[in-house]
Amino acid sequence: MKVAIAGGGSTWTPGLLNSIARHKEKFPIDELILYDNNPERQKNVGEFGKILFREKYEELNFDYTTDPKKAFEDVDYVFCQIRTGGYEMREKDEKIPLSLDLIGQETCGPGGFAYGFRSIPDMIDLINKIRKYSKKAWILNYTNPAAIVAVALKKEFPDDQRILNICDQPVNLLKSYGKILDMDYHEFEPYYFGLNHYGWFTKILDKNGKDLLPKLKEIITENGFLPADAEQRDQSWLDTYGMVEKMVNDFGDYLPNTYLQYYLYPNYKLSKLDKNYTRANEVIDGREKKVFGECKKVIENNSLEGANVVYNDAHGDTIVEIAMSIEYNLNNYFIVIVENNGIIKNLSDDAMVEVTATLGKNGPRPFAVGEIPTFYKGMIESQYAYEKLTTEAYYEKSYSKALMALTLNRMIVDVDKAREVLDALKEANKDYWTELK
Ligand code: G6P
Ligand code: MN
Repeated sequence: MKVAIAGGGSTWTPGLLNSIARHKEKFPIDELILYDNNPERQKNVGEFGKILFREKYEELNFDYTTDPKKAFEDVDYVFCQIRTGGYEMREKDEKIPLSLDLIGQETCGPGGFAYGFRSIPDMIDLINKIRKYSKKAWILNYTNPAAIVAVALKKEFPDDQRILNICDQPVNLLKSYGKILDMDYHEFEPYYFGLNHYGWFTKILDKNGKDLLPKLKEIITENGFLPADAEQRDQSWLDTYGMVEKMVNDFGDYLPNTYLQYYLYPNYKLSKLDKNYTRANEVIDGREKKVFGECKKVIENNSLEGANVVYNDAHGDTIVEIAMSIEYNLNNYFIVIVENNGIIKNLSDDAMVEVTATLGKNGPRPFAVGEIPTFYKGMIESQYAYEKLTTEAYYEKSYSKALMALTLNRMIVDVDKAREVLDALKEANKDYWTELK
């Protein structure tokens, strides 16, 4: 069994390597290889990995490379998490909209649009590289903005059944529910529907089939809500989880994904975001420094002793558990992004929805959701239209479709604002975007 990680130099990779080491009994692999197009960034993580596996997984054949042939030849699973433009461009995605009094966020609103236009061509290129050497490898993809990436990859590779777009945020939420209830979230049977970073839990059943959602709503509206790993999180994440209480108070049917805060309260969120210091700055000064610093420490000491490079287990564990469920046909529950095809009855078939599915050897088997109520349908339809138009704008190089897409986004709405932010993002993304006519 060979696994490759595309985006070897990511700040998330050391944690993922730890997860792989932790799962060596349950998910044994022979060969693991990191791949990145930025050799300097990857070297640090790769050298750290050599020491980690020497100490914790001696039998594993581990390496890192910038050569796609070496990475993807005869590979069984590719875990992808790439970020075109790096944190430098994330910072622009966040700061440019904020300078125009619009929400600046990594995956939502105009920032997500800009990031989508950068991710689409690079993801297509990466998949072509993987498929050149391995026709059958499973491609498990975290690359953001996952909603838009999923729509574009479906369009580009309509018959490829082994590309699975995923997100760890539903798992982060399940972990937090587990902590509140003092239960292991792996025991939950979650019911979830929506689009990526835009969905709701409608039920969470325990082992006996009892719905835990009413109890969770009660606790959250009384005590607020925190991430399971609150002590490791920056203030902005604590604020984000805190907004769940407000969302449950305003629309109490379901438990919302945290990203809905930006769509439901754009004015409030705008008043709280700092135009000069955004999440990208927090990550550059925080996680990036910490994780890469710890890697360097391990390399200098030539030992893991005294180092801690883990940041958020959910990210690493989930992708390994997904690969395990596929490889061993375990049919465990996961929340994944799939083509709607009637899952949500009153939404178009081509939407890429995020829903609960079992995962086995033949891929995801999603559960039917049925008809969703008007409010949620309306929210999702406008957001999906935005995602679809964004993808069409990319393929058709159409300025006018890009403008339509941004106009439909709840964080923008006004056409003049949409044009203003589109022009500014276009200028900032000259080196990355396809030209819009
Ligand atoms: C969650 C989301 C990811 C996103 C990440 C951002 O895990 O599911 O899609 O990239 O948050 O976290 P950060 O700490 O980089 O702001
Ligand atoms: Mn995500």
